[in-house]
Amino acid sequence: MAKNLLVLSSGGDAPGMNSAIRAVVRYALFKGLNVFGCELGYQGLIDQKIFPMHAGSVANIIQRGGTILKTGRCLAFQDKAVRQKCIAFLAEKNIDYLAVLGGNGSFRGATLLEEEGGPKVVGLPCTIDNDIPNTEYCIGFDTARNTALDAIDKIRDTAASHNRHFIVEVMGRDAGFLAVDVGIAGGAEIILTPEFPMSVEQIIALKLSKSRKKLTSIMVVAEANDPGRSIKIAKEIEEQTQLDYKVCILGHTQRGGSPTAIDRKIATIMGAKAVETLINNQSRKMIAMVHDDIIVLDFPASNAEGRRFDDKALIELNNQICNI
Ligand code: F6P
Repeated sequence: MAKNLLVLSSGGDAPGMNSAIRAVVRYALFKGLNVFGCELGYQGLIDQKIFPMHAGSVANIIQRGGTILKTGRCLAFQDKAVRQKCIAFLAEKNIDYLAVLGGNGSFRGATLLEEEGGPKVVGLPCTIDNDIPNTEYCIGFDTARNTALDAIDKIRDTAASHNRHFIVEVMGRDAGFLAVDVGIAGGAEIILTPEFPMSVEQIIALKLSKSRKKLTSIMVVAEANDPGRSIKIAKEIEEQTQLDYKVCILGHTQRGGSPTAIDRKIATIMGAKAVETLINNQSRKMIAMVHDDIIVLDFPASNAEGRRFDDKALIELNNQICNI
């Protein structure tokens, strides 16, 4: 009898999720599985919102940002009794496999579901922060950094026209991968990451110490779990130096947009790999990228810290190139 696979997206959305959903659905059908989708992540499981999917269900979505399955964070799922109801529902629907698109929190929920009697689970790493442990790449990161870079190039035009200084705040709750890639590619004079914080005094010293007093400059700041912190930084700099920094907070624009070729390709390969892994009866696994290979790893430990940017020398190099 054909096995049944359910796919859902959970946590913050990421461009490329639709490319991955398409690959999971199409490859599972190709392998003779029945495929179902679940709306709004684990909340959809609680509300029993699952529906059959066929090849046409994922037509014309590879290029679309967001996730057709919708997504969200679901605190109720942390309650074992709630999970038990979901497990009973999944058993009633004869769901054998569950593919979860999301981050480490979503993978922790998936692990509990299987441990407590639910279907076999495999996870696909999706977050624009690129900070899921053990994988060098997460679906959504390349699209987000290109979205932010496009915005910085536009800011640079108006900054140069007015001899202005800007702080551009990018996402990155705990990790500075977005800030570093966008800061270097955007030619930012200063890059602030959660991992390598700088006081306002240190920023001023770096900014004003250089021989060439730039009439215009850009500072890229990761939000560091404090969205809008750039406004405070700009205010403090102005109070101490009379330098007027304008602020541009990119926020959730970095979560949308048509996925880049990199995200579409990696999401497609990871989606098929997830189905292959489940069919091979491997579970509680995450599809990961390591040294450019798409491989299968155990889920990160439930208490694992997210990946952190650790190459301070790269930030120093950028300082040397941009502040001469
Ligand atoms: O985890 C990805 C992310 O975009 C973070 O960079 C950001 O801090 C967070 O999600 C925002 O979460 P929400 O969409 O729930 O506001």
